[in-house]
Amino acid sequence: MRVLSGIQPTGRFHWGNYFGAIRQYIDLQHEQQAFYFIADLHALTTVREPALLRQLTLDAAIDLLALGLNPERAVLFAQSSVPEVSELCWLLMTLAPMGLLERCHAYKDKIAKGLPADAGLFTYPVLMAADILAYDSDSVPVGQDQDQHIEVCRDLAGKFNYLYGETFVLPKAKILDNAAKVPGLDGEKMSKSYNNTLELFEDPKAQRKKIMRIVTDSRPMEMPKNPDEDHLFQLYSLVATGEERQAMADLYRRGGFGYGEVKKALADAAERFFAAVREKRAELAVQPEYIREVLAAGTVKARAKAGEVLARAQRNSGLR
Ligand code: TRP
Repeated sequence: MRVLSGIQPTGRFHWGNYFGAIRQYIDLQHEQQAFYFIADLHALTTVREPALLRQLTLDAAIDLLALGLNPERAVLFAQSSVPEVSELCWLLMTLAPMGLLERCHAYKDKIAKGLPADAGLFTYPVLMAADILAYDSDSVPVGQDQDQHIEVCRDLAGKFNYLYGETFVLPKAKILDNAAKVPGLDGEKMSKSYNNTLELFEDPKAQRKKIMRIVTDSRPMEMPKNPDEDHLFQLYSLVATGEERQAMADLYRRGGFGYGEVKKALADAAERFFAAVREKRAELAVQPEYIREVLAAGTVKARAKAGEVLARAQRNSGLR
């Protein structure tokens, strides 16, 4: 069984990325053969500053390693360093109906907002299908929002197999635990586009300030409150120990506390929770050679597999 997923380097990772996805990918490396890549080709549809894209790609690699991705277990690489994927993308493109792609949400949402879309965004799901099929992936852990893209991938693979004979492994989406949905500073879903994020590796002092400014309601202090309906408590739960979490829940139900106290507890717990990975990240950040070696070793493994699958697809479709 091979598990594969990609992460776009469109910004620094935040708690939503970590608790909603990255942590779960990293856990899977212990159970299955894992391929994880930094989706820099996809990021090109939004990041148009070369230096920034390069920096974000490197940062993503450092972050993932600091967070526990073990390069001995998981294969880590940049999407663009496997040209076989782009070649495979073309083969799949010739089988992708316009109507299918027009229904895909990344493109559809942009058009609905009256924004101009380019062919890269339109064919984004085909490149994603190539990413998945190139490595004979069995399982693709993704957030709910990517489910549609996995369906497109299965469609294209099925069509190819039907037309040219058994070529691709049909992957399954592994939809990540929704319980891990992380609220942002304003209580909405944490997302870079809502500008309500807590970044994973921001300076603890700056983060503390951000936490102290989290929007809360204005119910009186003495009033008992339901912890499960409060985003401050939900954030606290992610980084507190089980005991702390229980004690805080009791405090909410009892009433007689101020949100300022909760914020302080949250900032303290966050600092503690991320202390070790922060230290690890600082160590890795001064070893760019090591990061490059890890990515290069991952690329060799990824290309070996992708080359095999591409040759199969080329042979079956009459290109060889
Ligand atoms: N589109 C995915 C996202 O934005 C990233 C991605 C690119 C991906 N290629 C992939 C995820 C292949 C899983 C498999 O989250």
